[in-house]
Amino acid sequence: MHEDIAEVLFTKEQIREKVEELGKIISREYKGLNPLCVCVLKGAVPFMADLIREIDIPIEMDFMDVSSYGNSTRSSGVVRIIKDLETSVEGRHVLIVEDIIDSGLTLSYLVEMLKARNAASVKIITMLDKPERRKVDLSPDYCGYTIPDAFVVGYGLDYAEKYRNLPYIGILKEEVYAD
Ligand code: PRP
Ligand code: MN
Ligand code: MG
Repeated sequence: MHEDIAEVLFTKEQIREKVEELGKIISREYKGLNPLCVCVLKGAVPFMADLIREIDIPIEMDFMDVSSYGNSTRSSGVVRIIKDLETSVEGRHVLIVEDIIDSGLTLSYLVEMLKARNAASVKIITMLDKPERRKVDLSPDYCGYTIPDAFVVGYGLDYAEKYRNLPYIGILKEEVYAD
């Protein structure tokens, strides 16, 4: 285990099983719909990569990178698009793939934006959900694990861009971010 990790929440094996389970559900629910899986960079990359390989129906994938403005505007939920989709979502069944939902501000903005572009449907799949931190009324359509309000890293989740490559999800030691 990495020395900065206090506790492992979900092991590599648990994650593998959960992703397999989610892949089966998505394959069933999106049969015949050729969904567009939209990965929100960068945190969702490992989950997206694993999830699509557990889906046994045709899908397409695309990527978006967004960034929130300063703290004052963050509460309004306005996000800046750093990299937009290359695919037109008009008439498409869009599945947004996230690593974690925290305040929900990033996703509530994205969902509205994709609906405004006339997607046939917009749903959310997230590996982790932290409902205690929510600032807007939003819940995922598909979720791996619901977790308490702890500082988690690994499997795409970072602290200052570190730890994304850990194959498990763990709680970061307080001393690492307290300085
Ligand atoms: C994190 C996380 C989600 C978002 C959740 O991404 O990966 O995308 O924040 O927060 P919210 O529910 O409060 O909006 P971040 O903006 O840190 O970028 P990253 O994925 O590149 O780490
Ligand atoms: Mn992210
Ligand atoms: Mg981040």
